[in-house]
Amino acid sequence: MRIFFVTSNEAKFREASLVLKEFGIDLMINRGYRKVEIQSDNLEDIVNNALQFICGDNSSDYFVVEDDGLFINRLNGFPGPYSSYVYKTIGLIGILKLMSGVDDRTAYFKSVVGLCGPKVGIKLFSGVVYGRIAMEPRGGTEGGFGFDPIFIPEGYDKTFAELGIDIKNKLSHRARAFRPWAIGY
Ligand code: IMP
Repeated sequence: MRIFFVTSNEAKFREASLVLKEFGIDLMINRGYRKVEIQSDNLEDIVNNALQFICGDNSSDYFVVEDDGLFINRLNGFPGPYSSYVYKTIGLIGILKLMSGVDDRTAYFKSVVGLCGPKVGIKLFSGVVYGRIAMEPRGGTEGGFGFDPIFIPEGYDKTFAELGIDIKNKLSHRARAFRPWAIGY
């Protein structure tokens, strides 16, 4: 049985692969597919839709798709499902500007992971990690990707980028979505 993670994000692939290794699962990447992403306010709809394009090709392979968002409470959940676009446009500095002078810096990451394959229809799993937005980017990009340099998980004083992949993988939204997935599929 082969399991392919359909993603163009190698950092996500690396993190998910390490989590699944704990369960003896060897994750592969893409098998020629691309994630087709509809515009929606709902991560579950985005994943469901992306899987419709991939599943049911009569092979014995399984496919996984993930969609995430960073939800900032004081900004009513912005950027949420638009995180990827916001990261590419206004970036970390743009988010920090929007948060300038704001006391309530609480935020969370949410991941929705979907699986489909010969013996399962589409199954969705989700994971959340609560935390807060840092005052400035810390940790650079070597220790993480995306919003990692400005996200401090609850119970820590360091950003995900400073904490590095081993600690991030113990508590991240992605790890929390992939672990029950690994047990449940
Ligand atoms: P998408 O699920 O590929 O649409 O990604 C959403 C965006 O959220 C990504 O482009 C990243 O900027 C951000 N993101 C998702 N997961 C993480 C994470 O684990 N750390 C930091 N940023 C993330």
